[in-house]
Amino acid sequence: MHNDIQEVLYSEEQIMQKVKELGQQISQDFEGRNLLVICVLKGAFIFMSDLVKSITIPLEVDFMAVSSYGQSTKSSGVVKIIKDLDVPVEGRNVLIVEDIIDSGLTLSYLIDVLERRNALSVSVVTIFDKPIRRTVDLEPDYKGYTLPDAFVVGYGLDYAEKYRNLPYIGILKEAVYAGK
Ligand code: PRP
Ligand code: MN
Ligand code: MG
Repeated sequence: MHNDIQEVLYSEEQIMQKVKELGQQISQDFEGRNLLVICVLKGAFIFMSDLVKSITIPLEVDFMAVSSYGQSTKSSGVVKIIKDLDVPVEGRNVLIVEDIIDSGLTLSYLIDVLERRNALSVSVVTIFDKPIRRTVDLEPDYKGYTLPDAFVVGYGLDYAEKYRNLPYIGILKEAVYAGK
């Protein structure tokens, strides 16, 4: 375990098992539809690549980069599009892939953008969820694990851009971000 991690919440093996289950469910539900899978960069990049490998129906991928947290541990509430999609979503069944839903602000903003662009349907999958932190009414269509209200990193999730490469999700030691 990394020295800055206080506790591992879900191991690499547990995450991979859950990703497999989500991929199977999504494959069933989107069978015969025109699926466009959208990765919300940066956090979702690892989950995205694992997930699409366990989806067995034809799909296309695209990427969007947004940020609301910056260097802070708290959401600013302002969502910025840093990189937009390359393809139009009009008439497509869109699946947004997120690493975590916290306040829900990032996703509610994204869903709104994609609906205004006339996507046929907009669904959401997240590997982690922190429902206790929600400030907007938003439930993902598919979710992996529910997390406690702790500052977590790994499997794509960062603190100040670090720890994304940890293959598990764990609680960051408070000493690492105290006073920042
Ligand atoms: C994090 C995370 C989600 C979002 C969730 O992204 O990856 O996208 O915050 O928080 P919310 O539900 O309160 O909006 P962040 O803005 O840190 O950018 P990153 O993915 O590049 O780390
Ligand atoms: Mn993110
Ligand atoms: Mg972040």
